[in-house]
Amino acid sequence: MIATTGTTTPPKQGSPILAEENINPDTRHGVILYVEDVSVSFDGFKALNDLNLYINDGELRCLIGANGAGKTTLMDVITGKTRPDVGKVSFGQQVDLLSLSEAEIARAGIGRKFQKPTVFENLTVFENLELSLAGDKGIITSLFHKLSSEQKDRIAEILKTIGLTPQEKQLAGALSHGQKQWLEIGMLLAAQPRLLLVDEPVAGMTAQETERTAELLTSLAGEHSVVVVEHDMAFVRSIARKVTVLHQGSVLAEGSMSEIQSNPDVIQVYLGEEQG
Ligand SMILES: Nc1ncnc2c1ncn2[C@@H]1O[C@H](COP(=O)(O)OP(=O)(O)OP(=O)(O)O)[C@@H](O)[C@H]1O
Ligand SMILES: [Mg+2]
Repeated sequence: MIATTGTTTPPKQGSPILAEENINPDTRHGVILYVEDVSVSFDGFKALNDLNLYINDGELRCLIGANGAGKTTLMDVITGKTRPDVGKVSFGQQVDLLSLSEAEIARAGIGRKFQKPTVFENLTVFENLELSLAGDKGIITSLFHKLSSEQKDRIAEILKTIGLTPQEKQLAGALSHGQKQWLEIGMLLAAQPRLLLVDEPVAGMTAQETERTAELLTSLAGEHSVVVVEHDMAFVRSIARKVTVLHQGSVLAEGSMSEIQSNPDVIQVYLGEEQG
């Protein structure tokens, strides 16, 4: 383990980030993610168009918008999968995400959950978490090294957070769809991300699972910052403090759910569509 000092220097342009390195985004202004004047085009089509978004440290933000509004593209930009044509994306004030690779961004503390769960079906719930705790050291390390009591405690804590303590010995393949999603969130938590991006978490879930997911994401906010993309408006209403509406690659409106719902632009382009 590399010794870390009290102060962390943000990485220089293009410098690699080691797994052990403790990247501390500078959030003195209360903002953990800055997305400024970002545009992305695919064959001339602007998927993101001069987008500006600021996520506060510890907040739970919901991102809504019609199909094709650019929600997933935005997550792709934040996680380094897609590079914008122009704009600035930084983690805290100083960590320039555009100069980091996808792996470096993940290691810097940004976790992403895709819609489809990608748990290891033939391993138990516990083993899945054990593997994700090993991180880059991978399966061999995790198979041949005994867990420290600290690691065991950490897994127990994650199991409790995601509500799967009773299922820890079950094969992940035997879990319900909702439970698999929670396990995957737990696997992300093992890396102790500061920012979690979650794309359509409740798609395909039962009403009860949806409710439990709302509780889980709400409980993660504070210690983590969470950005949730979701089409399920009842779910958004149940968790949202602040909602951002994307439309044609730009922010159309931002505010509380009731502000959003009474915003004439939003009613016209988004909620109107839903009613129609
Ligand atoms: N790799 C790509 N190549 C070409 N076009 C793309 C690519 N990725 C996204 N797009 C286009 O960019 C636009 C925004 O897509 P995006 O997936 O970000 O929308 P979204 O808001 O996530 O929609 P949904 O709610 O359906 O998931 C769409 O018109 C999409 O077809
Ligand atoms: Mg999408």
